[in-house]
Amino acid sequence: MRTNCGFRYYRDSTTLVAISNTVKFNNGGPMAPLHGHIAVTNDPTQMRVMWNSAYVSGAVVKYGLTKDLKMSNTNVKASTYQAWDMCAPPANTTGFWDPGYQYDVLLTGLLPNRRYYYAYGSGEYMSDIANFTTPLAAGNRSSFKFIVYGDMGVHPFPEGVTTAKLVRQEIEENDVRFVYHHGDISYARGYGYIWDQWFYLVQPYATLIPYMLGVGNHEQDHMNGHQNDPSKQPNFHPDWFNGHTDSGGECGLPMSRRFHMPENGLGLWWYSFDYGMVHMVMLSTEHDFQPGSNQYKWLENDLKNVDRKKTPFVLIGGHRAMYCSNQIEGDYIVATHMQEAFEDLLYTYKVDLALWAHYHLYERTCKVYKNKCVDDGVTHIVVGSAGKEKDSDSWYPDKQWSVFRIADYGYGRITVANETHMLYEFVQNRIDTVIDSVWITK
Ligand SMILES: [Fe+2]
Repeated sequence: MRTNCGFRYYRDSTTLVAISNTVKFNNGGPMAPLHGHIAVTNDPTQMRVMWNSAYVSGAVVKYGLTKDLKMSNTNVKASTYQAWDMCAPPANTTGFWDPGYQYDVLLTGLLPNRRYYYAYGSGEYMSDIANFTTPLAAGNRSSFKFIVYGDMGVHPFPEGVTTAKLVRQEIEENDVRFVYHHGDISYARGYGYIWDQWFYLVQPYATLIPYMLGVGNHEQDHMNGHQNDPSKQPNFHPDWFNGHTDSGGECGLPMSRRFHMPENGLGLWWYSFDYGMVHMVMLSTEHDFQPGSNQYKWLENDLKNVDRKKTPFVLIGGHRAMYCSNQIEGDYIVATHMQEAFEDLLYTYKVDLALWAHYHLYERTCKVYKNKCVDDGVTHIVVGSAGKEKDSDSWYPDKQWSVFRIADYGYGRITVANETHMLYEFVQNRIDTVIDSVWITK
């Protein structure tokens, strides 16, 4: 988006009337560091900083406990990708847009739960000074809040823009500590410039709180060019699965280069991290999740090894929903297969909350197990309402487990109050007000 531009004025679609001078961007143009975002690792003394610009030498993050940024880290990994790194059109043909370079720096040796100031870039082109707070160490009993949502994108205006504004406001008003965005991120779907547009939306808060995310169908789903799939997993399209070519040929490649999630699973496809009293899990519903699969084995092992004395709450999330009563048959069939495949893992290991998206709406269930409300079941929430066109389908009338449902824009806010109480709230964007909430208690 920062390349030099020229404007052409046409009459009748075809008659070229005038051509402008070449217009250049100020403030470093392509050298300006943009798309800043941070992420936690599984170490509360670390924070990962990433950004994007044209290729620069001497990339650096300057940081410190005060705004004079006394420390610096030049241990930078820079990478880019080309059209031929992706799987299919339009991503590897007409949709390709030079993505510049992604810069990735891991800050280490930080103090947990402390505010740091930082700036990133190179030489004369540094970002403004931002700040972040390092994570609460696993087991820390401090109360904290965070944000959850899926299915954002940049169109239709202003839905994703409103979510972005409200989440930025949440940092000031509620001290939210991270974002958990479980799939369908920018909806670039092979058109690279849309990633640039989306980063423009989220950078104001992704530079202040960790932006933790996972893949949706619109980042990963593909049928062709599978040899370029960076996850290196078998392509997952059983006959009951309603995926096809939803990523526009991206097959997870741009997202895997633009983000770097904790490394205890399979890159950004599946991973977990501890934050204070919570163990957070991210899954990929675009990969095999059935018993015997790599992901299933990882999930079982991860859940088995959670130290509930340290992290009494376990939250799990992925993109496609395990429970949703919206009447979209293809997705409902996938939901039933998800239940069959790994609902028992959630039940056995007493997961407290399961977060899904994909449907562009909000829905909350009772504590459910095998389609029945039971005292020791799992609360499921679909919050695919961050910005993409809201769904307009009708609802299945016979789903007793559905407690609250609305097809409108909004996001979830979770307050981990203490080791026995966690509050989930859904904020409806249009009125900036909580319209549904539930206490998850032990
Ligand atoms: Fe989706």
